[in-house]
Amino acid sequence: MSIVPAAEAAPLIELDHACVIRGQVRVLHELNLRIEQGQHTAILGPNGCGKSSFIKLITRELYPLARADGHVPVKVMGQTRWQVDRLRAQLGIVTGDLSSNLSDMPGLSVEEAVISGFFASYVVPAHRDVTDTMRQRARHALELARALPLLGRSYAQLSAGETRRVLIARALVNQPKALLLDEPSTGLDLISRHHLIDSMRHLAQQGITLVLVTHHIEEVIPEIDRVVLMKGGRIFADGTRADLLQSAPLSEVFGGSIDVTEHGGHLQAHVLSA
Ligand SMILES: Nc1ncnc2c1ncn2[C@@H]1O[C@H](COP(=O)(O)OP(=O)(O)OP(=O)(O)O)[C@@H](O)[C@H]1O
Ligand SMILES: [Mg+2]
Repeated sequence: MSIVPAAEAAPLIELDHACVIRGQVRVLHELNLRIEQGQHTAILGPNGCGKSSFIKLITRELYPLARADGHVPVKVMGQTRWQVDRLRAQLGIVTGDLSSNLSDMPGLSVEEAVISGFFASYVVPAHRDVTDTMRQRARHALELARALPLLGRSYAQLSAGETRRVLIARALVNQPKALLLDEPSTGLDLISRHHLIDSMRHLAQQGITLVLVTHHIEEVIPEIDRVVLMKGGRIFADGTRADLLQSAPLSEVFGGSIDVTEHGGHLQAHVLSA
């Protein structure tokens, strides 16, 4: 009989009536959601519906409202309490905000930006040594993300697409269990987006759980079978790609007439009327 350690069996993400307030506004309402480890999931919905807030809730950039009954609304890998740097090392994070924070670090090189991922920081902390193993792993991650030629460049001077590739490398250095990707293709040209899709498929097949926020249904790779549609800070629908990446649910959630076509397994959405 094999015994699965509790931490491995625990779901990646468990939300139990999670509410989040930003400024004076409630941006997430009583979210209930469970994503198992290995269950690749896409999150779609109109601008402002709460997708990035959801990602920030998981990465602890935002905190849920405490519940009156004392239940903890957010668990990640079975744990309610996390040291933020440990959590961020287990979850690779690719978001625009992370990129802006790295760009704000004066003189940060691409190599340092990737190595900073080991320390869950935007810089390499002065008191911490960078080992040869870290440098090798950073190179390997840059290679996987097709960004090795950028190694010696200054992070702040990269193009939008180049920063995305470096962020993916940074997310991979800790060999995370999961990747949280918030619109990872922002700014990528056609071929770079194709490479990103290829990389996501490769990572998903290697067992890294993907949680992907996107506006592009063609990025919902075949490995992603679960789709969560959000609207107005709530879960509008939660189901399979076969059921939800269809004209009717997408038209309803986005509030326009959207047609979905499939060519050789690749999905595409077209707006018929808005
Ligand atoms: N700091 C803030 N203070 C108040 N409201 C905020 C703040 N940040 C975000 N919001 C609001 O929270 C809501 C959800 O924002 P969020 O960034 O999660 O949306 P999103 O689904 O990621 O949208 P997009 O597709 O445009 O990225 C929006 O209405 C937004 O205006
Ligand atoms: Mg967003």
